[in-house]
Amino acid sequence: MQPAAPEPRQNQGQPAPRIDGRLKVTGEAPYAADIPLNNFAHAVLVTSPISHGEVTWMDFSEAKAVSGVLDIVTYGDMSGVKAPKYSNSTSTSLAPLHQKTIVHDGQIVALVVADTFEAASQAASLVRMTYAEQPASATLDSPGTETIPAAGVSPMYPEDLKAGDFEAAFASAPVQIDAEYATAPETHNPIELFSTTCAWTHDQLTVYEPTQNVYGFKAEIAKQLQLDPKNVRVVSPYVGGAFGSKGPMTPRTAIVAVAARRLNRPVRCVVTRMQGFTTTTFRAETKHRLRLGASRDGKFLAFSHEGTELTSRIDNYVVGGVDTTSRMYAYGAVASKVELVKADRQTPGYMRSPPETPYMFPLESAIDELAYKLDMDPVELRRLNDTHKDPISGKPYSSRSLMECYDEAAKAFGWSNRVKAPGSMRDGDWMIGWGCATAVYPTHVGAATARVRLSADGTADVQSASHEIGTGIRTVAAQMAAERLGLDITAVQCEMGDSDHPPAPVAGGSNSTASVCSTVLKACEGIRRRLFEAAVRSNDGPLVGKPIADLDLKNGEVVAKDGRSQKLSDVFKILGAGMVEEYAEFVPEGAPADAVHSLYTGKSTFVGGSHGKKLMYAFGAEFVEVRINARTREIRVPRMVGAFAAGRIMNTRTARSQLMGGMIWGMSSALLEETQVDPRNARYVNRELQDYLVPVNADIADVEVILVPEVDDEVNPAGIKGLGELGNVGTNAAIANAIFHATGKRIRHLPIRLEHLLEN
Ligand code: MOS
Repeated sequence: MQPAAPEPRQNQGQPAPRIDGRLKVTGEAPYAADIPLNNFAHAVLVTSPISHGEVTWMDFSEAKAVSGVLDIVTYGDMSGVKAPKYSNSTSTSLAPLHQKTIVHDGQIVALVVADTFEAASQAASLVRMTYAEQPASATLDSPGTETIPAAGVSPMYPEDLKAGDFEAAFASAPVQIDAEYATAPETHNPIELFSTTCAWTHDQLTVYEPTQNVYGFKAEIAKQLQLDPKNVRVVSPYVGGAFGSKGPMTPRTAIVAVAARRLNRPVRCVVTRMQGFTTTTFRAETKHRLRLGASRDGKFLAFSHEGTELTSRIDNYVVGGVDTTSRMYAYGAVASKVELVKADRQTPGYMRSPPETPYMFPLESAIDELAYKLDMDPVELRRLNDTHKDPISGKPYSSRSLMECYDEAAKAFGWSNRVKAPGSMRDGDWMIGWGCATAVYPTHVGAATARVRLSADGTADVQSASHEIGTGIRTVAAQMAAERLGLDITAVQCEMGDSDHPPAPVAGGSNSTASVCSTVLKACEGIRRRLFEAAVRSNDGPLVGKPIADLDLKNGEVVAKDGRSQKLSDVFKILGAGMVEEYAEFVPEGAPADAVHSLYTGKSTFVGGSHGKKLMYAFGAEFVEVRINARTREIRVPRMVGAFAAGRIMNTRTARSQLMGGMIWGMSSALLEETQVDPRNARYVNRELQDYLVPVNADIADVEVILVPEVDDEVNPAGIKGLGELGNVGTNAAIANAIFHATGKRIRHLPIRLEHLLEN
């Protein structure tokens, strides 16, 4: 077992425990639906049992007869509510309760409000309805789907990728891989259920909802309800897991707001686990054709990745992961493209590392396949084709420590002891397999604002409307403030998750630590400057006349290089103030000039990844051991080792926690998770945690996380690359590769279950 907090190495911060850790483990950190409110009513969703068709008749008489029922909101009740425009702020363009058309399974058709949750649930079960059902296309290969090119349909995927003459280079490549892969749909199952609570005071609306985007929600609900955004407040102090599912606003929010306005009473709707499968987004299934051509000594010559993703009939959601895979190695010629298949499902959406998780699986599997074909070590094959520039644009990576990660992880794992031939490692009844794969995630950073106050008593307060989604953002922001203000972290308070705070970007794309720490850093620099100027310009005192560059803040004092110092409280006396406050606006290089204004209007803009002058990505290498029972083909994962390089690490404890959780989810997406879609009617089959498999402690014995030192001053002022979405990338391929090593069976679709290993 590894210690919970790795020793900090170069450019790595102290493993400070979460400042909200005690609140979290004692259950005192409130989720949005836990926030006490007077006299609120309970609402329960009624959802469609068909996925395509129309509501033809509704009857509420039995429902309304339930004692305690207050109201039922349904079609015809949404006047004054505008249909959302599909964007990053909304999960779908579906207008809530506008038309009786049903476009996906479990679509909201009514909201029942009652004095108690029990009454609302009972009444919801008594709503009578009939439907005219139409045939529904369930998934990628179902009859009736429509296929369109993905390029340009969304800012996520502007264009297909091309370099050189792929067809010629592939045709003449002496060694070729040409294979098809597939990944399964997955449903968000964060521990915290989805919920919305709306409370009106005259024309002012407060929304309590777990969200990764308080400013985005504020703007979006204002638009839909046609309110002035300044009359809307969104509160989300702690989010119990989001992973993308709480980034865009769903139709539920406007419906609950309307219900609360009609009743003139706060209304709280907690969505059931089962309804969470249909009323929010999900990770869509994908399939891939991947072609990789190489010379006999292993140099890549040609690469083509063709992805096919599922989306809804009404919206074009695309992840376009070829943007990452096509830049990963020194390929030579490249030709990659993506298609979308439109089916009768709800609009998919972000789930942790949306492009990389499904798209790195085929790439990192294919490299392993090629390594066996060439009789090469797969690590050495990657080393041979490692690159420090983009094979498509020629732009350099700002930093890339992929092979350092491989070297450290391989050593810790004991990779040199691997017996290469498949099926050659065994422990009694257990066939042992070792595999590895690359993890990668683009570094995103966005404009962000913060207010920092330093008081004469040596305490500080940070305010920024960022989001605690489980990552420990309050802790790392407090660490940044404590470091720059020379305080102990316990002296710093962090207020987040409220649209009354200065805006921060959506907590998506693993940008928050970089963006928020950069703006907190900037605000602290402002405070330091004001204190230092006061100290050197005062009439008397130990620091008069000193160059400002020689000053620092340490342990409640301003200290000069020559060792002279002045107490913070004395500097505040010079200032004649009890408190110094700085509001900072951080705009990353390459961001549009109006990025802060956009932030105030609910729009986050990110730079990084493949878009700037340099490529900005974090990397990692993951090694796994699988053990497969020779009689039953039961698959176990006794250990995983991952080494990751992501620039400056603010806190080795929270970083390890994110990466470990990511690797466990990666394992889960390889072996457990799959949302099953009924091919006959496009309805979900396993809509409960008893049927939708998620990992438990027994599923993974040992996870080791290595934080490889890396310095990158170009990504942002704080030197931070995000890592929340790094750990779960590549794990799926590492496991598939290990399964091949154990059994000689190459499984090219996920999840891999024991029945796939029984087939001949
Ligand atoms: Mo994450 S899937 O970018 O919220």
